[in-house]
Amino acid sequence: MTKGLKQRLIETGAPDLEKIEIALEHHLKPNLELVRQIASHLLFSGGKRLRPLLMIHSARLCGYRQGFEIQFSIIFEYLHAATLLHDDVVDGADIRRGKKAAHTKWSTPKVVLTGDFLLARALDIAAETREPDIIKVIAKITRDMSQGEIDQLSKKGKLDLSEQDYLEIIERKTAVLIQGACQSGAILAKAQKENEAALSRYGFHLGMAFQMADDLLDYTASAEVLGKNPGADMREGKLTLPLIHSLAQASPEDQTWMKEVITASEFKSDQFEQLKEKIIAYKGIDYTRDRAQDHVKKAKACLRGFEDCPSKEFLSLMAEYAIERKV
Ligand code: IPE
Ligand code: IPE
Ligand code: MG
Ligand code: MG
Repeated sequence: MTKGLKQRLIETGAPDLEKIEIALEHHLKPNLELVRQIASHLLFSGGKRLRPLLMIHSARLCGYRQGFEIQFSIIFEYLHAATLLHDDVVDGADIRRGKKAAHTKWSTPKVVLTGDFLLARALDIAAETREPDIIKVIAKITRDMSQGEIDQLSKKGKLDLSEQDYLEIIERKTAVLIQGACQSGAILAKAQKENEAALSRYGFHLGMAFQMADDLLDYTASAEVLGKNPGADMREGKLTLPLIHSLAQASPEDQTWMKEVITASEFKSDQFEQLKEKIIAYKGIDYTRDRAQDHVKKAKACLRGFEDCPSKEFLSLMAEYAIERKV
């Protein structure tokens, strides 16, 4: 990633980030110390806070000046944190943000229930917005995310997963939350319907690009930088676009070999390296990057109708960052 891009994003985001941290701490309010410990283990472990930032800047882009955008933006970090707690249980992932995943420190039921607590806190704060349309958006997010994760789980190990199947899964499990954060910012600002729709579409495309980038990083990044174990998707039997595309392009012999590696009960790191080479050779990486780039372009096009301002600049940079990021 160009240093300039990340630097510019940090500069625009920094003043709000500090306030987001304070709000996250302040609104948590569990009755039980154990719930605080489990929730804090994940919440305060270095997340990028993209979803709150997206809501804040969407609201400001639509002229919101009432001063509650920070407080309401944490709805989307609580929701995100709830799904990460659940996701690591579902995926059996043991590292998150460079730390032990919560379910490896506490029992799975406790972690799942803490995820539910975070979801409930998100709903409490959503009710304070007194905007039924924001509650509706949140209901859609939780409905779609749970089904996206279940759909992915049911299709685990399915070697003929199509690109269309994959797109449906990532729309539900990732894009809908990012889309909802942007749309809710517009609703909070009582934006005109066309502006709300434009920001919703922006968030959708950003979310699709963001998950494709995550799936690329699973093949291309190192554990130290990523804070999660690369290769986890393949190990979990999760076929993502780089692999789906390469399998479809591969020669019959390569297809047979790749399928054997994917379904093998034991994970051998040298075989993962060989699989990566095949994915590169069959252009799975390039193809995924191109599809992600298409979404970035579409996301940026959704911002065209808005007047230039720092929030528009932020959202535009964020679209580029979605696929340039290293973590
Ligand atoms: C991780 O999201 C889950 C995905 C949707 C890929 P982030 O990359 O935003 O995670 P944090 O919050 O910064 O750790
Ligand atoms: C991310 O899916 C979507 C969520 C609902 C959390 P992944 O399973 O790819 O996310 P990571 O790689 O664990 O962050
Ligand atoms: Mg996961
Ligand atoms: Mg992933």
